[in-house]
Amino acid sequence: MSDIETLRTFDDSLLSARNLATGYGELQVLFDVTVDVRADEVVLVFGPNGAGKSTLMRALIGQLPVWDGSVAVRGHDVSEVPADEMVSNGVGYVPQTENVFPNLTVSENLDIGAIHAADPASRRREIFDLFPRLDERRSQLASTLSGGERQMLAMARALMPNPDVLLIDEPSAGLAPQLVERTFEHVAAVRQTGTAVLMVEQNVTAALEVTDRGYVLDTGENRFEGDADEIRDSDRVRDLYLGRAAPDGG
Ligand SMILES: Nc1ncnc2c1ncn2[C@@H]1O[C@H](COP(=O)(O)OP(=O)(O)OP(=O)(O)O)[C@@H](O)[C@H]1O
Ligand SMILES: [Mg+2]
Repeated sequence: MSDIETLRTFDDSLLSARNLATGYGELQVLFDVTVDVRADEVVLVFGPNGAGKSTLMRALIGQLPVWDGSVAVRGHDVSEVPADEMVSNGVGYVPQTENVFPNLTVSENLDIGAIHAADPASRRREIFDLFPRLDERRSQLASTLSGGERQMLAMARALMPNPDVLLIDEPSAGLAPQLVERTFEHVAAVRQTGTAVLMVEQNVTAALEVTDRGYVLDTGENRFEGDADEIRDSDRVRDLYLGRAAPDGG
């Protein structure tokens, strides 16, 4: 059982997981996980490697079957909805890896995202306003972009259909410190445009700057839920999840 002290749930959730269980084949990875994202929120999920953070994202987007519990969009159960239909439910997803087509140009990558866009041309202009760097690079192959630019493109492509909520898995992974900050500025800008964000991040201190609420996930269970200040102020979160890579159990 989870040893979490408080776990708020919200009736006005855009996207919610309730008591979610899933895994791979025989391996159960998530146990009884509950997560809410409300409109206009930036919600952070963090926790040790292998905790099941990416697995949670895959279950939310319909890439993994819901074994128990539920996934809902605006209160409507979408537990059985496959990944390719989640976009029409207003949910976008940027995976942790392989999130752009390297052999296509920036522009062509956006075209793929635009398949589900209501007005692709005007959406493209909005996206280039958000990511001017991509506008400058629009004819360049994605494989020739820097790590930071590639991450921008991945986010931009998922934003083309103008989702209500965007799931982003470790957007700042592997980036230089000044680009880490830039990534979170983009996350804040995305929220400004009316798209809520659920992000998995290991750069917790920097991510908290743009975060409203967050969850600690450990060994597939909820361990903490609170707003950004509560996360910063929690001795337990700091000792177990922020200070060191692996707690010594003492
Ligand atoms: N495709 C897969 N098939 C089988 N097991 C998997 C698969 N993907 C992940 N797992 C296992 O599920 C568990 C959780 O992995 P997951 O990738 O969700 O963790 P994570 O919290 O995202 O870790 P990280 O911080 O390293 O990205 C791990 O034990 C992992 O080995
Ligand atoms: Mg992961």
